[in-house]
Amino acid sequence: GSTGLGKTTTSSIIVSELAKHGIRVLIIDWHDEYLRLLRKIGIPREMIKVYNARKPYPLNPFDFKHGESIDEKVSFIVDIMESTLSLSAPQSYYLYEILQEELRDHASGISFSTLLSKLKEYSDITEGYSGREARYALMRKIRPLTIGQAKKLFEYTGSVKEEFMKKPITIIELGRVRNNTLRRIYTLFLLKEIFSMYTQKGLSSKLKLVIVLDEFHNLASTSCEVLERLFSEIRKFGVGLIVISQTLFDLPSYVLRNVNTKIIHSVKTYRDIKELVNILPYGPRYQDVIINLAVGEAVVYKVDMQHPVKVRIEFPFKMQDL
Ligand SMILES: Nc1ncnc2c1ncn2[C@@H]1O[C@H](COP(=O)(O)OP(=O)(O)OP(=O)(O)O)[C@@H](O)[C@H]1O
Ligand SMILES: [Mg+2]
Repeated sequence: GSTGLGKTTTSSIIVSELAKHGIRVLIIDWHDEYLRLLRKIGIPREMIKVYNARKPYPLNPFDFKHGESIDEKVSFIVDIMESTLSLSAPQSYYLYEILQEELRDHASGISFSTLLSKLKEYSDITEGYSGREARYALMRKIRPLTIGQAKKLFEYTGSVKEEFMKKPITIIELGRVRNNTLRRIYTLFLLKEIFSMYTQKGLSSKLKLVIVLDEFHNLASTSCEVLERLFSEIRKFGVGLIVISQTLFDLPSYVLRNVNTKIIHSVKTYRDIKELVNILPYGPRYQDVIINLAVGEAVVYKVDMQHPVKVRIEFPFKMQDL
């Protein structure tokens, strides 16, 4: 739905219902909105764990706990860095080589700073001028991850602690993370971590965890294998996803392929209205209804329903209390 029509509010109500049913929830909160909303809905504070830029979840992108091979691990890391730092092919090549070497020698305990110094020291007699250029360009892209806020977010070098997601609801607040690249890279490493954690726990027909990805259009602004695999594979392991986006037209195809239930708040742009044809059966028939939905109203469609239905999302308290 377009901005301000109630997506985050609807999502926080779904989250509170999931929590009541004993399903764990992890929220990627792009604008630090959920704690306040959930408290207003009446979720007790002790049910919620909040991580943010000042007190980040101890995430180590290079940790080696989940039984993946070095190759898998390296390709995950390279994929995330390619997608967020827009690496060229030669830059990816250097990253790949250094990671292979480092992860083979030190199963864990490396960091972006180690990576940087290894790149600096890298010596290969066959390296020509353009190779050297690529290596230095890669170093310039990695350096921001070793200073300031990024340093704080990635300072943890130990193994990920099991207490993560012990509380019914975990919120990762990204509102105070200063730039979008850092928000994306941090979130993707976190999702990769959860992907590994849950695929290793084994198949599950029971829903164990739901991940809320608010402002998904920001997260998926460039293609990323980690996101794609999350969408196509994680459901089998008992993990559900709630994806929230302002636009319909630029949602990646792996999202549309894998989404069972659609909750459409009003859309206003021509491109989104045109996209309804791919989102709903007989989409264009619902065009007028969808354009005219009020705040807090939505059209809902689930794959096994005969036709979409219009709903009003009742807030469990008066909105003026907010
Ligand atoms: N179900 C509802 N009933 C009544 N008012 C609502 C409802 N949902 C949202 N609102 C009102 O609309 C405002 C915007 O809601 P919300 O932040 O959930 O929108 P959004 O779609 O997430 O916006 P954005 O795209 O900017 O993130 C809220 O502050 C609230 O006042
Ligand atoms: Mg929102």
